[in-house]
Amino acid sequence: MPDQSQPILSVKNMSVQFPSLSGVVTAVKNVSFAVGREKVGIIGESGSGKSTTGRAIMRLQPTTAKVVADEMRFEDVDLLRTSEADMRTIRGRRISMILQDPKYSLNPVMTVGEQIAETAILHERAGRRQARERTLAMLERVNIRDPQRVFDLYPHEVSGGMGQRIMISMMLISSPSLIIADEPTSALDVTVRQQVLSILDDLITERNIGMVFISHDLNLVKSFCDRVIIMYAGRIVEELEAAKLGEATHPYTRGLLQALPSLDHPRDRLEVLRRDPSWAEA
Ligand SMILES: Nc1ncnc2c1ncn2[C@@H]1O[C@H](COP(=O)(O)OP(=O)(O)OP(=O)(O)O)[C@@H](O)[C@H]1O
Ligand SMILES: [Mg+2]
Repeated sequence: MPDQSQPILSVKNMSVQFPSLSGVVTAVKNVSFAVGREKVGIIGESGSGKSTTGRAIMRLQPTTAKVVADEMRFEDVDLLRTSEADMRTIRGRRISMILQDPKYSLNPVMTVGEQIAETAILHERAGRRQARERTLAMLERVNIRDPQRVFDLYPHEVSGGMGQRIMISMMLISSPSLIIADEPTSALDVTVRQQVLSILDDLITERNIGMVFISHDLNLVKSFCDRVIIMYAGRIVEELEAAKLGEATHPYTRGLLQALPSLDHPRDRLEVLRRDPSWAEA
């Protein structure tokens, strides 16, 4: 039984560099954060290093990338030193990643039902028939109305929202203790988005696990997450409780907040986000 008081994930001083034709690009610079049994949002504009941070935790960087850190620990696993073979069993089973477009995470030549059932066979050592029953139950659990039919669909035949729910049902079987969701709902329309978020929310609470929720939608993160990390040019510029976002002190966060359209206080013009090169330094 893992120690409930310890964070699930702890990252200290992590940097990620990519070689490029014009020299080395440091996409993530000295970031430190921890994730407990909570939903931690990472926000920041395009290119600020959010996805790179998520992928580094999963060790899903291209081989040319250089990841250095003082510590990267997931439960009892030293992510900096564990073997690639061990990493393969950790990915999907103990840390799950949900991507913007689930079609890329699913095997295109296998029906979605077979893929979920495979997880049940691997994870729960279920027999074929038992795995099918588990799969149908999980599809129902994520509000898929016609699980028998959906079981036999191929990934290209499912809609974005259904694809997200299929990914979640796979997670329900593999019971990870950390979920990394990278813009998981940005391709969904508002009603499906709410459904997917509430299924995720229930999952986190019910299983008492942790989540990293990557998004550039400040309003969404504010309402969905417990804590928010704000990234700018590869650095964490501020970290605070979601409920206290209004009290943010960093000028970049303040700028993001002021740039939000508000129904309560309509403005003729939206603020232009101001940036200061010094925020990207030490
Ligand atoms: N494989 C790669 N090779 C070279 N540079 C990369 C690679 N992946 C990311 N980068 C660079 O790292 C920086 C951060 O990229 P990242 O994808 O993490 O941003 P992001 O915050 O997720 O942005 P978005 O909101 O657009 O998804 C960018 O400058 C990007 O060009
Ligand atoms: Mg990204």
